[in-house]
Amino acid sequence: MAIEERDPLTGHKTTGHEWNGIKELNTPVPRAVYFFLIATTLFSLIYWIFMPAVPLGYTYTKGILGYDERDVIRRKLERAALEQAPWRAAIEKQGFDAIEADGDLMQKLREAGRALFGGNCAVCHGIDAGGNAGFPNLAAGVLNWGDSPEAIQETIRVGINSRHPDTRTAQMPAFGKEGMLPRADVKAVITYVRDIGKSGSDHAAMTQPKGLEIFQNNCAACHGDDARGQVDLGAPNLTDASWLYGGDLQTIHDTVWHGRQGRMPSWENRLGPVDIKILATYLHDLRKER
Ligand code: HEC
Ligand code: HEC
Repeated sequence: MAIEERDPLTGHKTTGHEWNGIKELNTPVPRAVYFFLIATTLFSLIYWIFMPAVPLGYTYTKGILGYDERDVIRRKLERAALEQAPWRAAIEKQGFDAIEADGDLMQKLREAGRALFGGNCAVCHGIDAGGNAGFPNLAAGVLNWGDSPEAIQETIRVGINSRHPDTRTAQMPAFGKEGMLPRADVKAVITYVRDIGKSGSDHAAMTQPKGLEIFQNNCAACHGDDARGQVDLGAPNLTDASWLYGGDLQTIHDTVWHGRQGRMPSWENRLGPVDIKILATYLHDLRKER
């Protein structure tokens, strides 16, 4: 047993061990640490008794309060569904005109539509529905498949070039790659198409007579004699400033050379009919504001 010794500098006792002349102080654990140790142990014991705590294979100790987070969420969802039921029923029953004329209903619809759009559509079309290259702007400009709420609803339901049996089909042929037009003709027609977009069809027809002729013979069947597009074929209007892929010469060349078959998924199996109707009305409403 070492002799008790007090360190003159700190006033603490030493443990009596000594390493090469260095002695260890015998400093006690502070009281606060004991206090917190006891308090937290007590807390966890009480928590184990009242709340779900210890896993036991496939089950767990449930605690005498019987608290279950899944129950809490289930109840919250039920309450939300109950709150939504009346206005969702109104949307299901009424026509688009009646819905859009009902200010209170539209307020709820805009909120729900924004959430549905953010969760399902924004990855491709952008959070503001403004689109990206290859993903159309839904908030402004002309829609290839029609911009009535009924047309938008149908596009969302069946998709474009999707696996749905009623899918809308958009086939822009690969005129260059498939050898449907010689290289010189592709060049002439793309210059004509670019110039319609830039300076209008009359001017383009005057400066690009060869391009106009090739257009009338190969493109007008789908895009229309006046190049204003055809909604029932999903063939875009080539005379306006809105482009799905791009209106510069290089992009128009890629479109005409390689063809385009943009794909929009069908939502019939992923969203209910009321959600699809909400989205169609939401987009139609968004477009009116611009
Ligand atoms: C069979 C019908 C059909 C014919 C014929 C056709 N197109 Fe198209 N075109 C389409 C469709 C449908 C789209 C939209 C493709 C998509 O949605 O992915 C399209 C898209 C385009 C685009 C892209 C527009 C944009 O917004 O980016 C250009 C440019 C174009 N066509 C030019 C032409 C030219 C030039 C010709 C003739 C050489 C032609 N098309 C012939 C159906 C056709
Ligand atoms: C995986 C990407 C993707 C997602 C997700 C997506 N879309 Fe699309 N959508 C497209 C593409 C690509 C097109 C253009 C297809 C084509 O080339 O014609 C399109 C076209 C559309 C059109 C037709 C535009 C026109 O010119 O007529 C509407 C309306 C539309 N989408 C709405 C929606 C809504 C609403 C959602 C969410 C429920 C959604 N989309 C989700 C890719 C997507």
